Amino acid sequence: MVPVVKASHDFRRACQEARVDGPLALVPTMGYLHDGHASLIRAARNLAPTVAVTIFVNPTQFGPNEDLSRYPRDLESDLRRCESAGASFVFAPDSPVEIYPAGFQTYVEPGPLAAPLCGARRPGHFRGVATVVSKLFALSRADVALFGEKDYQQLLVIRRMAADLDLGTEVIGRPIVRERDGLALSSRNAYLSPEDRPRATALWKAILAVRERFHAGERDPAALEGLARQGLERAGLVVDYAELRDPIELQPVSRPDPTTRLFLAAFLGKTRLIDNAALGE
Ligand code: PAF
Repeated sequence: MVPVVKASHDFRRACQEARVDGPLALVPTMGYLHDGHASLIRAARNLAPTVAVTIFVNPTQFGPNEDLSRYPRDLESDLRRCESAGASFVFAPDSPVEIYPAGFQTYVEPGPLAAPLCGARRPGHFRGVATVVSKLFALSRADVALFGEKDYQQLLVIRRMAADLDLGTEVIGRPIVRERDGLALSSRNAYLSPEDRPRATALWKAILAVRERFHAGERDPAALEGLARQGLERAGLVVDYAELRDPIELQPVSRPDPTTRLFLAAFLGKTRLIDNAALGE
């Protein structure tokens, strides 16, 4: 089975030793791994001889009324997935104290990229993400780190942070992995009841409908966003946001082009689902 380290100092040492053999790739996760994570690990294998995976449900990125206590966990199954996807070793701290020891008080505050979309709906979320990822980069000094585009805003925030703080880790985004019916893979899909599961495809259907309207010539952002909103509401989801933004700065657009991305977040019962895609894909 893939080796597991639990202590930060052991993780630092394992990464240090691995870097002697060549580049080190990092795949940070919160566990409950699915095929999307496995595809990140496999892609990492093509970039570096050593791939370190981290599994840590990071408390600082959850709001007070969010799902930290019920976030799904299954370390045994995660380790099997890491092994079969080709991870070299795993850092899986047993307790948040390993990352946030007594007296911890220093956080990374991201800039304007973290303001809209999930940043506006989940205050403090990206501060928690940036803080934990900066710690993982500092411990590992990885050459590259891979993140899925499902959390597209997170990817941009982390890439900016790594550049701004000269962390020396190149941040690579990888395409969303979807179920056959279009649902983007997410650990949170585990919350969906069998009755709700088919309705979760509403996000992907909304993306397809908006793309179709865009390809038919519609260029009014409000009309395209309204179409997405309608699709989600008709399927019984409660829309958190449905917004078109440019793919670099995440600013609203006055005239969408093929690179413009549609960002969606919606509640299906208590489960918050997100998705995004470029209009021209
Ligand atoms: O995307 C995630 O799983 C988390 O936000 C991350 C990047 C591992 C930080 O906790």
